[in-house]
Amino acid sequence: MTTQTLTITAPDDWHIHLRDNQALDTTVPHAASSFHRVICMPNLTPPVKTTEQAVAYRKRILTALAKANISDDRKANFDPRMVLYLTDHTMPDEIAVAKTSGIVSAVKLYPAGATTNSADGVTDILGRSSVFEAMQKHGIPLLVHGEVTHADVDIFDREKRFLDEILSVIIKNFPKLKVVMEHITTADAADFCLAQADNIAATITPQHLLFNRNHLLVGGVKPHFYCLPILKRERHQKRLLEVATSGNPKFFLGTDSAPHATHTKEAACGCAGCYSAPHALPLYATAFESVNALDKLENFASIFGAKFYELPINTNTITLVKKEQVIANNYPYLDGKTLTPLLAGQTLAWSLHE
Ligand code: NCD
Ligand code: ZN
Repeated sequence: MTTQTLTITAPDDWHIHLRDNQALDTTVPHAASSFHRVICMPNLTPPVKTTEQAVAYRKRILTALAKANISDDRKANFDPRMVLYLTDHTMPDEIAVAKTSGIVSAVKLYPAGATTNSADGVTDILGRSSVFEAMQKHGIPLLVHGEVTHADVDIFDREKRFLDEILSVIIKNFPKLKVVMEHITTADAADFCLAQADNIAATITPQHLLFNRNHLLVGGVKPHFYCLPILKRERHQKRLLEVATSGNPKFFLGTDSAPHATHTKEAACGCAGCYSAPHALPLYATAFESVNALDKLENFASIFGAKFYELPINTNTITLVKKEQVIANNYPYLDGKTLTPLLAGQTLAWSLHE
């Protein structure tokens, strides 16, 4: 019997956290081994708030790339696309600067306090109208972390409340603004996205396609399944799988691969984020195969995102092989620390062809 293979157009990751400085030695080779363009989230400490800071950050990423132990081909194809972190103080003029830079692809909205390094996020979202206006004018997409943060809203309801109270108002006020609903986790978000015009899209992570809150909480708390927005109930997981494999161009790949050193996740107050960059494609293949939709993977991973961002489709390919791999227990990270990937030590049915 011959081994099953799946060759697709080379994919891009429209939502990744590479972190900074020494962390880049681990994260950049992992990302560049699978992806061409990557949308680099700006929630560094301090955040990437200006085009000038984005240019400097991109240089640090490219320095790490030059040192990486990966093929010259992979290096040549890796294209980090930068994002500005929206704050209460971002000025509309910054958007024009971002547009002319050619390297800034989007602006990210973190409601203040919503997730890792979001303390500088926006407190009065609907008060940022002049910036949204400039983004709409210049065709710069708004990437949203869609959760409200009021202490009295249950963590499992925060995404839905954001759609009802915030996102629907932004979309109504700026009907031509491109918006990506990042890492959606509920049927509500999927159906909200479907109900909007073509300028509204969504990314979906591998963990939200493969898992639900039982994986996180039953039989003991599993900190490596903890990310934000938090995994929801199975009904939502199933709806996300449905829309991701539906062939609708509104839904595309964004891993939200978010490294945190192992000891900061396995802790009394553990950090949010799943690290999936090294094996993200085999994870997505596993999810798509579970609903017999491997034929839908290429559009989701490699075509729809590029079209939304109005970038060319990659011309080369990547091959997945139906060959078991055991996911690493951990990777070296920072100074003598480790980084535990999603599904560490477990076996996946798919591998990347070397
Ligand atoms: C991300 C991180 O660690 O930067 N964490 C996460 O749980 N997804 C931030 C984010 O995208 O919310
Ligand atoms: Zn993220």
